Amino acid sequence: IPVDPFDLVIFGGTGDLARRKILPGLYRRYYDGQMPEEARIIGAARSEMDADGFRDFVRGALDEFVTKRHDKKMVDAFLAKLDYVAVDAKGTGGWDALAKTMRDGVVKAYYFSVGPALFGDIADRLHEHGITDDDARIVVEKPFGHNLETARALNATLAAHFDETQIYRIDHYLGKETVQNLMAVRFGNMLFEPLWNAQYVDHIQITVSETVGVGGRGEYYDKSGAMRDMVQNHLMQLLCLTAMEPPSRYDPDAVRDEKLKVIRALETTGHDDIVRGQYKSREESYLEDVDNPGSITESFIAMKVRIANWRWNGTPFYLRTGKRMKERVSEIVVRFKEPPHSIFEEDTGQSANELTIRLQPNEGMDLTVTIKEPGPGGMRLIDVPLDMTFAEALGEEAADVPDAYERLIMDVIRGNQTLFMRGDEVEAAWAWTDPIIEDWTRREDRPYPYEPGSTGPEEAMILMHRDRRRWRELRA
Ligand code: BG6
Repeated sequence: IPVDPFDLVIFGGTGDLARRKILPGLYRRYYDGQMPEEARIIGAARSEMDADGFRDFVRGALDEFVTKRHDKKMVDAFLAKLDYVAVDAKGTGGWDALAKTMRDGVVKAYYFSVGPALFGDIADRLHEHGITDDDARIVVEKPFGHNLETARALNATLAAHFDETQIYRIDHYLGKETVQNLMAVRFGNMLFEPLWNAQYVDHIQITVSETVGVGGRGEYYDKSGAMRDMVQNHLMQLLCLTAMEPPSRYDPDAVRDEKLKVIRALETTGHDDIVRGQYKSREESYLEDVDNPGSITESFIAMKVRIANWRWNGTPFYLRTGKRMKERVSEIVVRFKEPPHSIFEEDTGQSANELTIRLQPNEGMDLTVTIKEPGPGGMRLIDVPLDMTFAEALGEEAADVPDAYERLIMDVIRGNQTLFMRGDEVEAAWAWTDPIIEDWTRREDRPYPYEPGSTGPEEAMILMHRDRRRWRELRA
C-alpha cells in the first residue's frame, strides 16, 4: 500500500529507541522503496546540534544496527531526508523553528519517543504553534502509565488536543510478523476455529523468555517488574489475539473491540495462581543489577489466568515471562485435549495435539500429531511434528520480515490503527493488573530466587504440576 508524503518528527530523536529501532527501521523501509521521495524525518531533542550533526548521529546508528541491506549510497540518500531542530519540551526554545520547518499538505506525524512526563508539554506546544491538524498523528510508547490512575491521566492529557483516531499507542509485539499471522491462521482457515474453545482445548501457554538481564535499565525496571513491563502489555496482547472472538472485519475498531472484551472478561488472578521470581546466583543477581538490595520486584512471573466467558470457561491460560532465562523464546502453545476414548488396546503413548505459534526466534508454527509408528510392530502410536518454519516453506527471503517498528511506523503514516492499542484497552489492562499488584504490596510478597540461565523458579513448575500439566520445554 503506497504511503503519502510525510513529515515525521521524532521527539527524543537522539535517544536510545530512536537510535536502535526507529531510525534503522525507517532506513530499511526507505531501502525497500516504501518511502515516498517527499518524505522527511526531523529529529527533535534538547541537544544543540545542526542537521549535519544529526545525520552523523544517524549514520552511526545505521552502522551499528543495520546489518542486512546496508548500502553506502542508500544511506547517503536516506540521510538527505533528515533534518534536526533543537527544542525544549518544557520551555519555548526551538518551537518557532520547528513550526517553520513543517510543511503543509503532507501527513504530519509526531513520535513522542520521550518519557510520559513530557507528553503533556509537547502536546500543548504543538497545539499552541498550530502545527497539528485533524489529520496529524502522534505516536506514544510504553510505559503507558504505571497503573490505572496514571494511564487515565495520560489518556486525558493526550485527549486534550488529539482525537482517539489520531493517537497511536505502540505495543511493538503487535508489529511482529507472527502475531499478525496468528490472526491469519485463526480466521483464514476453517481447520482451527471450530476447535478453538474450552471443549477441545485443554489449556494455552504463553511464554516470553529472555536471556538478557535488566542491567542498564535498572532504575526503570525496578519500579515496574515483569508484570508491568511485559504482562500488562505484550503478554496481554498475545492473550487477547489468541482468545478473542472473530471480529467481523479486519478493521481497527472491530479488532480492538474484541480484544477489549477479552480483557474485561479476565478474572482477577489469585495469589495461589502466581509465582514471582528474581534471578540470583553468587556471580550475578537482580538486586545488584538494579542496585537495590532490598528490592522485592519480580524479574520473572508465571501465572494461571482464567477468562470468564462461554468460549474459555474451564480452559486456563498459563503465562510466563522472565529475564536471564535459559533461552530467548516467545511462543504460544495451544494444547488440545486428549481423544475421549482410545480404541487401541495397548497404551502406546498416544497424547494430545499441540499447536505452537513461535514469535521468535525461527518464526513459524508447529503442530504435533499422533501417527502410527512406521514398521511391522503393530499399532504403536507416536507423536510427530508437522513443522512449518516460514523460512523453509517460503524461502529465506520471505522470512526476512520487517522489524516490528518498521511496520508500525508505516502504519501510522497510512493511518491504520489496527495494530495499535486503544485508550480503553490500555485502561482495562491496568484495571486487571492493579488489584493483583496491590495484593503483593499488601502481603509484602517476596519473589523466589532462580538461577540465571535457568527456566525460572521451581515453583513455576509446580504451578503446572498441580494441574497435571507441564510447560513446554524452553528451546530456541
Ligand atoms: C520491552 C520491555 O517492551 O520489550 C523489555 O520493556 C523487553 O524489558 C522487550 O526486553 C522485549 O522485546 P523483544 O522484541 O526483544 O521480545
